[in-house]
Amino acid sequence: MSTLGAYFRLARVGWVLMREGVIESLPAEGLPPMVAFGKSAASLLARRRSKSQQRSDRLAKAVARLGPSYVKIGQFLATRPDVVGADLAEDLAGLQDRMDFFPIEASRAAIEGSLGRPVEELFTRLDPPVAAASIAQVHPGEVITADGPRKVAVKVIRPGVRRRFSADLEAMYLVAWLQERFLPHTRRLRPVEVTRALEQTTKVEMDLRLEAAALSEIAENTKDDPGFRVPAVDWERTGRDVVTMEWIDGIKMSNVEALKAAGHDLDALADTLIQSFLRHTLRDGFFHADMHPGNLFVDPTGMIVAVDMGISGRLGKKERRFLAEILYGFITRDYVRVAEVHFEAGYVPSHHNVASFAQAIRAIGEPIHGQPAETISMGRLLTLLFEVTELFEMETRPELVMLQKTMVVVEGVARILNPRFNMWKAADPVVSKWIRDNLGPRRIATDLKDGVKAAVRLAEALPEIATKTEKLHSELMHMSENGLRFDPETAEAIGKAEARHTRWGRLALWIIAAALVAIAIQMG
Ligand SMILES: Nc1ncnc2c1ncn2[C@@H]1O[C@H](COP(=O)(O)OP(=O)(O)O)[C@@H](O)[C@H]1O
Ligand SMILES: [Mg+2]
Repeated sequence: MSTLGAYFRLARVGWVLMREGVIESLPAEGLPPMVAFGKSAASLLARRRSKSQQRSDRLAKAVARLGPSYVKIGQFLATRPDVVGADLAEDLAGLQDRMDFFPIEASRAAIEGSLGRPVEELFTRLDPPVAAASIAQVHPGEVITADGPRKVAVKVIRPGVRRRFSADLEAMYLVAWLQERFLPHTRRLRPVEVTRALEQTTKVEMDLRLEAAALSEIAENTKDDPGFRVPAVDWERTGRDVVTMEWIDGIKMSNVEALKAAGHDLDALADTLIQSFLRHTLRDGFFHADMHPGNLFVDPTGMIVAVDMGISGRLGKKERRFLAEILYGFITRDYVRVAEVHFEAGYVPSHHNVASFAQAIRAIGEPIHGQPAETISMGRLLTLLFEVTELFEMETRPELVMLQKTMVVVEGVARILNPRFNMWKAADPVVSKWIRDNLGPRRIATDLKDGVKAAVRLAEALPEIATKTEKLHSELMHMSENGLRFDPETAEAIGKAEARHTRWGRLALWIIAAALVAIAIQMG
């Protein structure tokens, strides 16, 4: 596709966003007068009926008009509050990925094209679709196995979506490039890199062999785990445009009433869900990153069965250890440790003061311990933590942001199941076990009881960790000498950094919006 085509596409995006009143609803406080002017100009062109709508509704309308790629772009930007700001990220996260079905004939053609065999030879039955989203739709089907007929789920890529997406992506690259070229001071937001990340995740999502591989990997990881599994993949009927898997006969977690009626233990399900998620992240470093209740079934035996692994996340050893220590630190209220792991991991530049950092973390952790358990959110805690770490110049780590977003979702599901859900109690066995198994010899760990003392004694027993304790000790000495306080300078610096951050986020939005509007006007 030509660059001119990309300009045309942008013009259309700008026009739709303006007409649906999205541009008008972007925050503009603290930005140059030009932006305010642009905003009023855009509001003149907005449809009158958009005026009475919430921004989330305006976004939904605009995305529905723009097409499937934009749902994906919206969902992706929802995971980047560092780029679009927390508010807008929240609205974008609410975008529903439900679309009209495409004809079964198109599915049959895609299956035959991808697998090189006629549908009749592959399946004894292929039924009309039961669910459709921007990238794919799912048909129930049936195959003959050695043990007789077996029901399967057949997920097929939406025709033309790959081509369309690459064209839309070209338009996004153009915006990113224009931004970097003409507004060099906004390069900090790395628009081209952000676009590349979007391209990468979506490419993965649009190759169903990769979804099948993700299912198979997580199946292997969890084969001995209690209460959680994923559908088995039928590799013979899987290709780039189609994945076939075991059909799950179960109740969706979004249907709490039905779960109750079927006699499932909802409290136990909530615990299992969180524990499974933590096991996947901490132990395996590989997690399902789209765990909303529509993707989670409970089968008749009470097992949680997760489907839809188009998006998954990976954490390296270092990140896992970082996460475990942070959670454990919060559970045991060891804020200095939490602060230290940030420095040890090299996430926070060493010129910062560990003690001040620990203090900021304490400010997040302490209020939590005074609250009733059911109101304490681990996902929210990580959200706050990342906000604070940013003030201390911690670079955004996309994999950690993904984890934090997923945790918010998983925890939300657990709370729907059990409104009195105690996240910390549910997490403790998994986190503590991981700490015991990974940060110290099992032998010592088994001799000790859980809790803070265990962690301290464990640390003392290990020479490697002992040096760290020494460091901690000197840190503590330093703190006791220099005091632990938020002096006016620190407070002011943080205030400034915060203001700068919100402004950057907003500015970026406006640059994108202005580019779109400018192009729209020129093309018009
Ligand atoms: N293995 C399965 N067994 C039964 N139903 C399934 C299965 N896989 C998907 N579905 C149904 O199809 C819907 C869409 O599939 P999903 O993989 O979540 O795709 P999407 O990416 O479109 O959300 C699911 O919400 C579920 O209702
Ligand atoms: Mg789904």
